[in-house]
Amino acid sequence: MVHKVIVETDIKQGKINKNIYGHFAEHLGRGIYEGIWVGEDSSIPNTRGIRNDVLDALKAIEIPVLRWPGGCFADEYHWKNGVGTREHRKRMVNTHWGGVTESNHFGTHEFLMLCELVGAEPYICGNVGSGTVQEMSEWIEYLTLNGESPMANWRAENGRYEPWQVTNFGVGNENWGCGGNMRPEYYADLYKQFQTYIRDYSGNKLYKIAGGASDDNFHWTDVLMREAAPHLDGLSLHYYTIPGEHWHAKGSATDFSEDEWNTTMEKALLIEELIEKHGTIMDKYDPEKRVGMIIDEWGTWFDVEPGSNPGFLYQQNTIRDALVAGASLNIFNSHCDRVQMANIAQTINVLQAMVLTEREKMILTPTYHVFNMFKVHQDADKLALHLETETIRHKEKSFRQISASASQAQDGRINISLCNLDHQRQAKLHLDFRGAQFSEVTGRILTAESKNAHNTFEEPENVHPEAFNDITNGDNGLELQLPAMSIVVLRLKET
Ligand code: AHR
Repeated sequence: MVHKVIVETDIKQGKINKNIYGHFAEHLGRGIYEGIWVGEDSSIPNTRGIRNDVLDALKAIEIPVLRWPGGCFADEYHWKNGVGTREHRKRMVNTHWGGVTESNHFGTHEFLMLCELVGAEPYICGNVGSGTVQEMSEWIEYLTLNGESPMANWRAENGRYEPWQVTNFGVGNENWGCGGNMRPEYYADLYKQFQTYIRDYSGNKLYKIAGGASDDNFHWTDVLMREAAPHLDGLSLHYYTIPGEHWHAKGSATDFSEDEWNTTMEKALLIEELIEKHGTIMDKYDPEKRVGMIIDEWGTWFDVEPGSNPGFLYQQNTIRDALVAGASLNIFNSHCDRVQMANIAQTINVLQAMVLTEREKMILTPTYHVFNMFKVHQDADKLALHLETETIRHKEKSFRQISASASQAQDGRINISLCNLDHQRQAKLHLDFRGAQFSEVTGRILTAESKNAHNTFEEPENVHPEAFNDITNGDNGLELQLPAMSIVVLRLKET
């Protein structure tokens, strides 16, 4: 069949919040230490302790927002241990992630320096599970109060006189699980209590995000919205794509069958159904869509690489991951009326990472390239899009072969992102633009010869984007040939 995409260039359907292209870096495995922080005395070139190769890579994809310090780690983290002279910082055991010693060398000042260097907004997650209201309240005072106060004075003593601007603040993480094993009713009360004491100081305006549901825990969303909606700016949702049936057998990141490919695609696309169902519950209490859905953990979760520490969640990243990223981002774009932020898990060396490091070496993953190609959608106007595509049947389930979204950027260009989720069949696609004429079309493509193609430290360019030229002018539009397992981003300039 010929797949069809119709883009209505004169029907704008709201802004795609740039924060949908957000990231997440937890104190987990080699995510922070080695991945970001090497220390000022390292032989790895660094800027005040942060490795330069990673900084450059993150700047290039224009990370809009970065979530830290967890994850499960957030509800065990006591921020006061992570400020002051590094040699004197109290160490702790990272019980969630491998039982390793946490030096606390990467703390509040280092994280906010990273955000400043990358140009990303910080998104800090506070501790509800094992922390206190006072501790959280004082963190906000330390971060944002300008002038005279115990915490502002302490910040100045620690080398930072000016307050930071911290907008996004999470009140706990997965409080139904690692964040305290709570009932939603209990957490909703705690949320209201904690958020009362995180104040807007000195012109800083917090965007308060409650720890939300995972997967299809609709009850959690319902209770949080019912009990706390007026006190929320955002409610989080977590969803991981795990092809295996069992937690201890999630499947390999690189060595997988056709069946696992299809299961991965089908499960990744499920996030759309979850957004719609959680969104319907949110609509019941918030029809104006004031409260943002914050998908602050998403991505693939496979078995760790053989020989690596099981607590470090280190996995490779193939063209399959790239397609999961592309299709998920298309879905988030399409639901930008409710989805205000999304943070892929996680930035470096953990789960579906952008970057992998091996001491002084660094490589970019196929997922990184997708974020680089899709960044044109950040803060662009979403355009109405109609898609006619084939359904791939897989066991009793099915999924659509093509995924697409379109936007108009502030420079007037139209961006359209397309994914062919079939790893064997190419797709002939007719693209029809209603409401505009174009003088120039440029395209980039990310694809591979085999379904488990990935970049390695020996062959870092196995999967990389190239110019896409398989575009011809047809009747009322463009004809494209999308290779099997490919991601294409087109940019069009109006005449
Ligand atoms: O991203 C890894 C972990 O997954 C996070 O710490 C936790 O929030 C989730 O369960």
